[in-house]
Amino acid sequence: MRKTIVVVGASKGIGAELVTLFAANSNLQVIALARSIEEENAWRDKDNVFVYNFDLASLSITEDLNRIFSKHSSIDFLINNAGVLVNKPFLELSKNDIHTSYQVNVMGIMESLQFFLPKMLSKGGHIVNISSMGAFQGSVKFAGLSTYSSSKAALTNLTEMLAEEFKDSNVKFNCLCLGAVQTEMLAKAFPGYEAPISASKMANYIADFTLNQWQWMNGKIIPVSLSTP
Ligand SMILES: NC(=O)c1ccc[n+]([C@@H]2O[C@H](COP(=O)([O-])OP(=O)(O)OC[C@H]3O[C@@H](n4cnc5c(N)ncnc54)[C@H](OP(=O)(O)O)[C@@H]3O)[C@@H](O)[C@H]2O)c1
Repeated sequence: MRKTIVVVGASKGIGAELVTLFAANSNLQVIALARSIEEENAWRDKDNVFVYNFDLASLSITEDLNRIFSKHSSIDFLINNAGVLVNKPFLELSKNDIHTSYQVNVMGIMESLQFFLPKMLSKGGHIVNISSMGAFQGSVKFAGLSTYSSSKAALTNLTEMLAEEFKDSNVKFNCLCLGAVQTEMLAKAFPGYEAPISASKMANYIADFTLNQWQWMNGKIIPVSLSTP
């Protein structure tokens, strides 16, 4: 039977490359979520890919997920890849900058995990949270990224907390702290900088990690980086 993998934040960058990789695997059914994904559906001809518009900043996350998943009962793998980045000096951050960063990078993910987890507990599965090197303890830090990196640090810590709280279940939680990957988000954080890793190369690593590494680790925070930044 096909395993089901959910990618949140699947419309572009690393997330879109992940969906393309998983779509090529006929043993997988892929559920791809992002705010604008239905309009830009690049996987129209794939019968194992289902795309839905979904916003982590919505006021109705649980209702939205209930509607989307009424057609999909079981979930084996979940990749929380969605993220937003604000690059601004700390004193210039608006309330909205801070709120949106924490809503999308932390709170929306927490609320959606309260939806996904009960569906995974009996069968087991692997939840992979995508964080950043800026959120990895002791890493080099960059001015302007305070709300982004601190919100990603919350996601990193949440991974450890959930691994502990659900350690008696068969669901595994791990977190990948990515270094620079050539995407729109990187251009916003470090204009003009060229990353040594493409989105498709990083997606290859994340896909393999998600499908296989749950057998070897739980609650781990792993730096995945070739460069600074
Ligand atoms: N690129 C890097 O160098 C780098 C480094 C460290 C960590 N990361 C992390 O890696 C992940 C992927 O980053 P990327 O570089 O591929 O970024 P990206 O190209 O900007 O893609 C971000 C994805 O998140 C989705 N997203 C944003 N806001 C959302 C919302 N409110 N609800 C649902 N989905 C939302 C976007 O889709 P829509 O806009 O259609 O909603 C998009 O699919 C992020 O978590 C990022 O923080 C990236």
